[in-house]
Amino acid sequence: MTQPTIESILQENRTFAPPAEFSQAATIGSMEQYRELYDKAKADPAAFWAELAATELDWFQKWDQVLDWQPPHGQWFVGGKLNISYNCLDRHLTTWRKNKAALIWEGEPGESVTLTYAQLHREVCKMANVFKSLGVKKGDRVGIYMPMIPEAAIAMLACARIGAPHSVVFGGFSAEALKTRLIDAEAKLVVTADGGYRKDKTIPLKPAVDAALAHDGVPSVENVLVVQRTHEKITMEPGRDHWWHDLKAGASAVCPAEPMDSEDLLFILYTSGTTGNPKGVVHTTAGYNLYTHMTCKWTLDLKDTDVYWCTADVGWITGHSYIVYGPLSNGATSLMYEGVPRPSNPGCFWDVIEKYGVTIFYTAPTAIRAFIKLGEHLPNARDLSSLRLLGTVGEPINPEAWMWYHKVIGGERCPIIDTWWQTETGGFMLTPLPGATPTKPGSATLPFPGILADVVDLEGNPVKDGEGGYLVITHPWPSMLRTVYGDDDRFRRTYWEHIQPKEGQHFYFAGDGARRDADGYFWVMGRVDDVINVSGHRLGTMEIESALVSHPAVAEAAVVGRTDDLKGEDVFAFVTLEGDYTGSDALINELKQHVAKEIGAIARPGDIRFTDVLPKTRSGKIMRRLLRNLASGQEIAGDTSTLEDRSVLDKLRGGA
Ligand code: PRX
Repeated sequence: MTQPTIESILQENRTFAPPAEFSQAATIGSMEQYRELYDKAKADPAAFWAELAATELDWFQKWDQVLDWQPPHGQWFVGGKLNISYNCLDRHLTTWRKNKAALIWEGEPGESVTLTYAQLHREVCKMANVFKSLGVKKGDRVGIYMPMIPEAAIAMLACARIGAPHSVVFGGFSAEALKTRLIDAEAKLVVTADGGYRKDKTIPLKPAVDAALAHDGVPSVENVLVVQRTHEKITMEPGRDHWWHDLKAGASAVCPAEPMDSEDLLFILYTSGTTGNPKGVVHTTAGYNLYTHMTCKWTLDLKDTDVYWCTADVGWITGHSYIVYGPLSNGATSLMYEGVPRPSNPGCFWDVIEKYGVTIFYTAPTAIRAFIKLGEHLPNARDLSSLRLLGTVGEPINPEAWMWYHKVIGGERCPIIDTWWQTETGGFMLTPLPGATPTKPGSATLPFPGILADVVDLEGNPVKDGEGGYLVITHPWPSMLRTVYGDDDRFRRTYWEHIQPKEGQHFYFAGDGARRDADGYFWVMGRVDDVINVSGHRLGTMEIESALVSHPAVAEAAVVGRTDDLKGEDVFAFVTLEGDYTGSDALINELKQHVAKEIGAIARPGDIRFTDVLPKTRSGKIMRRLLRNLASGQEIAGDTSTLEDRSVLDKLRGGA
């Protein structure tokens, strides 16, 4: 299957109206209703969000000001006090939901656990008390490096409960990547597990924490709390490392939620950018709570009868917003699954849907493309009739994959929500509302009510329908990132200075190109910066280049994305070697392994090509555009007049 080209996407004109039965039961059931909400929000965004904040969230103290906008800094619900863990847990305990399943968890080897709201509340309170006993106070940062087990969500909620911002690091990241993030966040405590299960193997997590902390590698870390998962032998450093089950045994299940200011830091989540180390994206309490709550309610159409499953990992923003906070704030049942399709059970996702009667299924295009390869017989062998809504996130979905999802998984009866958003936006920005918005395969359709989006040129002028431009958000929204942790300059530079609109206007831009069609539908075309999207995971080319250059054989490296049928994009590296080294297959493997060790397996280059020289401009900048063309086996497109040494191109082609 091929990836969509711009032309093929723009020729896509199939439209799917929401099924009448779905619309009748949906919270937002018609385009009229969507338009009404959208127009109301546009006319007075502050009033729109204030009304929802008052009716949808519980507050310890009401705010004084809805929005304080000092571009590019927005503060929402200033002066208000609340706690997101209270909104996700305590407030449901006084209703019938007390004994409703909050989290359903299925482990890869097949165990399962269901935690009701009352049980989850107890677990969270106990862990919060354990954190306190380890000296964690309001404002202290906690690193979470966990497999997909309930304790990952429990740890996040326990942090939120006592006002200790968390920084979750994806369990697939290496010790080195973990260390950089823990240092930047100055974490005081790390919560981890001995290991986790992935693809029929165990992944060692505690050993990675040990490596990150070795030789006082992260001086701020005082304690490590370890959840027992795989029972493999690990070393526990006396005084620093503690088993969760030991401390839990003596912990009280009473821990009132700390009243937090609306703008108190809720979490830091690191994400890749074009330059330097990953950025610590900062999210605060009230706006994030409200926005993830509302998007779950209207876009996921979450109901009390739903069993909702998002296949992301809690290490990514999707897991934060749409496994933990948004669904639980709504009192929904959220399913967590530790496993991924693997040789021993390629149909495991369909087993899980059948076993639990999943009604809403949210996954990534790369997973859908993998399902297509694995074959229809796998989903066809399971009863998927419980499904009523399907979603995708992470990268543009090619229309063929959309159609397969619609037919084979959705039985042609489930609307598909293609949700465009980012770590920085906190929640869905462009998305259909499934009972209202007619969908077109490959389009994330229209902005969520309260979101003002546009496609513009570098001066901020809207481009004509059908023409490519930069996707921007033109008005602040509640769950917008507040800053880059410890580097506000970088926040301004990265998101607010690329597009230079008219005096007085401030456009948020985080790297995607898009087009809008005659119906006002957005078609996100992918990143226009040096970020590549591998299987929906965001990787900075510079990070991978730095990892390569840290190997003694490598003099210089340039990394680009190459279109890949399965992963969307794959990492392609051009490498020049230090004088004493010669290129070989063994060295290619060694370098791939080196990148995996430095960053994590997700960053392992798919291909490495040795070259004597890299194409550079006269000012010394690597011309990535040319390398992208070469990596994809395309003709060199566009202007090459700024190339310093034109013979480089022939050499590179010759080396192909
Ligand atoms: O390029 C866009 C792509 O993923 C980027 C955000 O990555 P991250 O912060 O890791 O968050 C991923 C999960 C929200 C975006 O800049 N992206 C995400 N969703 C879509 C998408 N591209 C096209 N269509 C989408 N639905």
